[in-house]
Amino acid sequence: MKKTDIYAEISAQIAAIIDNEPSATARYATVSCVLSEAFESFFWTGFYCVDPTRSRELVIGPYQGSLGCLRIPFDKGVCGACATKEETVIVDDVHAFEGHIACDSRTNSEIVVPVFNAQGQLAAVLDVDSEAYANFDMVDAEALETICKTLLIGVTF
Ligand code: SME
Repeated sequence: MKKTDIYAEISAQIAAIIDNEPSATARYATVSCVLSEAFESFFWTGFYCVDPTRSRELVIGPYQGSLGCLRIPFDKGVCGACATKEETVIVDDVHAFEGHIACDSRTNSEIVVPVFNAQGQLAAVLDVDSEAYANFDMVDAEALETICKTLLIGVTF
C-alpha cells in the first residue's frame, strides 16, 4: 500500500474516532496509537505539549514507543526547533542535528509537526521518530500537518 493511501485511510479513521471527543489527551492518544500501528517504520510517535506553567518548555504527552524524555525546552532538540519556529521540521540524520536529544539511540531520523489550538496558539508538537535514516519527506509533512490542523477543533480540556 502506498504511503499516501495509508495516510488517507488513517486520517479518516482518526476523524471518526475523535468525533465529539472533548479531551485533547484522548485525541493525542488516538493519533499516537493509530500512526504507530499504521507504519512499521515509525519507531516512536507522540506529543510534547506546551507547559503553560513554565516559560518555553514542552512536557511529554501521550505516546507510543520507548521511554521518552519528560521535558524539552524550546531551545533544545528537534521538538524545540519546531516549537520555536512553529513549523514542521524534518531531520534525515538526527546525529548531524546540533542539539538533538537522544531519548533513544535507535532513532536515526524524525519529523516534528506543530499543533495549534482553535485560537491559533501553539499547543503541542507531534514527534515521529524512525530507526531508518531519511524516513520522512513532504508526503509525511503534508499528511501529518493535515491531521494536526483540525486535531484540537472542538476540544474543551
Ligand atoms: N527527538 C526529540 C526528542 C524526543 S524523543 O526522541 C522521544 C528531539 O530531539 O527533539
